[in-house]
Amino acid sequence: MENKKQLFQRFEEVFGYTGERFYFSPGRVNLIGEHTDYNGGKVFPCAITMGTYAVVAPREDQKVAAYSENLKDLGVLTFSLVDIQYEKESQWTNYLKGMLLYIQEMTHEFTTGFDVLIYGTIPNGASLSSSASLEILTGVIANDLYGVDLSGETLAQLGMRVENEFLNLNSGIMDQFIVANAKKGYAMLLDTDTLDYEQIPFALPDHQLLIMNSLKQRELVDSEYNTRREQCEEAVQMLQEVVSISNLGELSESEFEAYKYAITDREIARRAKHAVYENQRTKRAARALADGQLEVFGELMNESHLSLHEDYEVTVKETDLLVRLAWEQEGVIGARMTGGGFGGCCIAIVENEQVDPFIKNVRHGYETEIGYAPEFYHAETADGAKKL
Ligand code: GLA
Repeated sequence: MENKKQLFQRFEEVFGYTGERFYFSPGRVNLIGEHTDYNGGKVFPCAITMGTYAVVAPREDQKVAAYSENLKDLGVLTFSLVDIQYEKESQWTNYLKGMLLYIQEMTHEFTTGFDVLIYGTIPNGASLSSSASLEILTGVIANDLYGVDLSGETLAQLGMRVENEFLNLNSGIMDQFIVANAKKGYAMLLDTDTLDYEQIPFALPDHQLLIMNSLKQRELVDSEYNTRREQCEEAVQMLQEVVSISNLGELSESEFEAYKYAITDREIARRAKHAVYENQRTKRAARALADGQLEVFGELMNESHLSLHEDYEVTVKETDLLVRLAWEQEGVIGARMTGGGFGGCCIAIVENEQVDPFIKNVRHGYETEIGYAPEFYHAETADGAKKL
C-alpha cells in the first residue's frame, strides 16, 4: 500500500475523482533521552521510514473530508475549517483539526478545504509517534496548499500544542520536532530547552537497529504520563529552595546529589534523578556515537532502560522482558525501551550476522513467557515530513 499508484487509486475510489498531491511524514524512534524533553534536557531521536502517507486534493468549500485506509470502518470524516473544536466523534481527525485550528490562528483563515486519504505504516499505540507523524503531515499539507510556509520548528511547536491544549496530554516537543526536521542518515541531538540541535551521522555498517514491538496494549498512558511530568515540576519547586534552576536539565549528576536533600518525597526524588541522569547520559551517548564508540553508546542505552525501570517506572513486564532477552543474545550492543513507555516498542542494536538468531531467540523467549509473539522491524532512518 506504500505504493503511490495504489494510494491514488484508493483516493479515486473513495472521493470519486483524481487526487493531486502526495506527502509522507515519518515516525520516530528515540535512541536515548527519555522523559527529558519536558525537563529542558537533551533527546536523541531519529525519524524512521515507517510513517504516514497522504493523497490530497483541494476542494472549494471550507471543509476537510478525511479517510484513513487503516480505519476503513470509520468511513469519510468531515469537519469545517470554521470554529474548529475537539469532538470525540471526530476520532483521529482531531489531530488534523487541532493543527488546522492553530495554523489558521497563526496565519489566516483558510477559505477553501481539501479531501485527504491517509495511510499509515506505523503500528498503532506502539510508541513510534503515529500521532506526531499525523500532526506534522497536516502541517506540511497546510504549508503546501495555503502557501503559509511555516518552519519545521513552528510546526513542531504547534503539534505539541495540539497534544497539550487540544488533547490534554502534556507531552514534550521531541516527537513533533524530529518528525518535522529529521535528516535521513542522521540522529538528532536536540536541546529541548533552546531547540538548538545537532545532526549526528547514524550509519551502522556492521549493525542493525531493530525495533521490537511488545504489542502490549498501553494502558493509563496519558494519566501516568501527566503525573510524571507533574512530579518533575514538583521536584524543581523543591530544589529551587536551595539552588537557582528553572528545569532539571540544568543540573549535573553531582549537583543533583548535592541538592537532592531538598526533595522531601522519595518517589519524586527518584523521578528527578532519572531526568537529571538521563539527560547527562544522552549527551555522553551522542558524543560516543559521533566518536565511533558504539560499545559505550550501547552501555548507556542499557543504563537508560534500567533507570526508566527503577526510578521513572514507565516500563512494564513486557518491555522489561524484551530488553532482558535482548541483553542475553550474542552480538547485542545495547537495548532499551523507546518512547513514553507503559508498553509499546523497544530497540536493540545488533550485529548484522546475529540478527536472525537474535529475532528467533527473543521471539521464542517472549512467546513462552507472555503467550504471544512480539513483532520485529528493521529501522531505517528517514527525512522529515515532506511533499513527495
Ligand atoms: C512521548 C512524548 C514525548 C516524550 C516521550 C518520552 O513520546 O510524546 O514528548 O516525552 O514520550 O521521552
